[in-house]
Amino acid sequence: MNVLPAQLTALAYLVAAVCFILALKGLSSPASARRGNLIGAGGAVLAVLVAFLSESLQHLGPILVAIAIGSALGVPAARRVAMTQMPQLVALFNGVGGGAAALVAALELTERHGNGAAAAAAGGFTVLVGAVSFSGSCVTFAKLQELMTTRPVTFPGGPVVFGGALLAALALAVGIVVQPAGGVLVLLLVALALVALFVGVLFVLPVGGADVPIVISLLNAFTGLTVAASGYVLGNTLLLVAGTLVGASGTILTRLMAAAMGRSLTSTLFGAFKAGTGAVAGTGEERPVRSGSAEDVAILLGYARKVVIVPGYGLAVAQAQHTLRELAELLEARGVEVLYGIHPVAGRMPGHMNVLLAEANVPYEVLKEMEEVNPELKTADVALVVGANDVVNPAAKSTPGAPIYGMPILEVGEAQQVVFLKRSMRPGFAGIENELLYDPKTMLLFGDAKASLTAVVSAVKTL
Ligand code: TAP
Repeated sequence: MNVLPAQLTALAYLVAAVCFILALKGLSSPASARRGNLIGAGGAVLAVLVAFLSESLQHLGPILVAIAIGSALGVPAARRVAMTQMPQLVALFNGVGGGAAALVAALELTERHGNGAAAAAAGGFTVLVGAVSFSGSCVTFAKLQELMTTRPVTFPGGPVVFGGALLAALALAVGIVVQPAGGVLVLLLVALALVALFVGVLFVLPVGGADVPIVISLLNAFTGLTVAASGYVLGNTLLLVAGTLVGASGTILTRLMAAAMGRSLTSTLFGAFKAGTGAVAGTGEERPVRSGSAEDVAILLGYARKVVIVPGYGLAVAQAQHTLRELAELLEARGVEVLYGIHPVAGRMPGHMNVLLAEANVPYEVLKEMEEVNPELKTADVALVVGANDVVNPAAKSTPGAPIYGMPILEVGEAQQVVFLKRSMRPGFAGIENELLYDPKTMLLFGDAKASLTAVVSAVKTL
């Protein structure tokens, strides 16, 4: 159904590409993220429409069935997913994207082999990296969904097996470039896909705990590269542009996340192969902590001059962002200066706390990044830590060998008083004790963050 002339198709693809670039720009700030998202979605819809109208489409029936199945699975999943489960959903969608690019490139190679060595190389690359991205993303999904251990999984000789499998995959990819079309080509493609799936699993297994979301971002970059390469194979400029954008932005995000956690990418990926994972477990002995009531916390907060609120993953779990904003407004009405300290990896995904607090209409101006808020903590009367743990854990500075050692933290210990709202003495994501919980200046209010904040709000009203 060749309805659109080639020039119009090219123009529409250009518009879609510009939409993708504007979308990325919009997503760089919480204020414009929603608009950016819509612009990106608009570009994607345009691209799909143009593909239907301009290409001489074959297999329209199966394509429509695939779209229907994909929508039936994807739309409810995306609508229903809790914000705290977003990283695993991203992992799954990303893996499917890589797998799809690999399948398209494999079919294109078998049907149109003879388009030259460059196209064959790009096709081989797409199958290899797309399959790695697919199986790697499935393992990260299983880890984050806790369908398997979240700890690094290593075994003797792991690096050798990984290196051997990677070399075998590269050799098969070279075979695809030099092998003319025919049955052997199909065999080589199947073998490459299987070995690459194995490489993807081995690539992600040794990554554990807090590093898993970094790997998701890296696999996302891989998928971008496969889509770009499949664009080359198919001669589709828009896929090239979109894939390159995803590849570049995924790479930048991976680097930013690794830097925010004080890790190098190599130590994130291959650190577990070195002896020991460095987990710092508790001593097992019961140590005294100072726990307080909602009224005690209300007095501390209500008579303070300056309060710095540090939100973390637990705030998202409790969905207590609206109650937190209510508390902040009450305190401000009493003349208390209230700031929010946002750690770059608080929560479970980039910008998690910004999204959560924006949802509760907390103004962006009071959200302070780590570098900005750390000096403020020195003059704060109270640091109120709501469902955060690792991002304020001094072990990041004091305990070499701890999984978070080297990660810059919010220095809440610098405040006059520290209040933690959490349910128990359980550690955070990294699984390590937080000495600050035992500090004499720390008060703990145990309970679900929403219930605790509701009680504190009531108590502040009675002051
Ligand atoms: P965590 O260290 O995971 O601590 C969360 C705290 O919330 C826990 O102490 C937990 O204690 C408490 N909690 C859970 N549910 C709660 C509820 N309903 N009410 C009250 N408290 C609750 O979180 P964080 O400080 O935000 O640190 C984030 C972690 O994720 C870091 O280790 C970071 O490296 C990792 N990570 C994040 C990202 C991104 S991009 N955000 C990426 C990679 C890794 P209780 O169980 O006792 O309540």
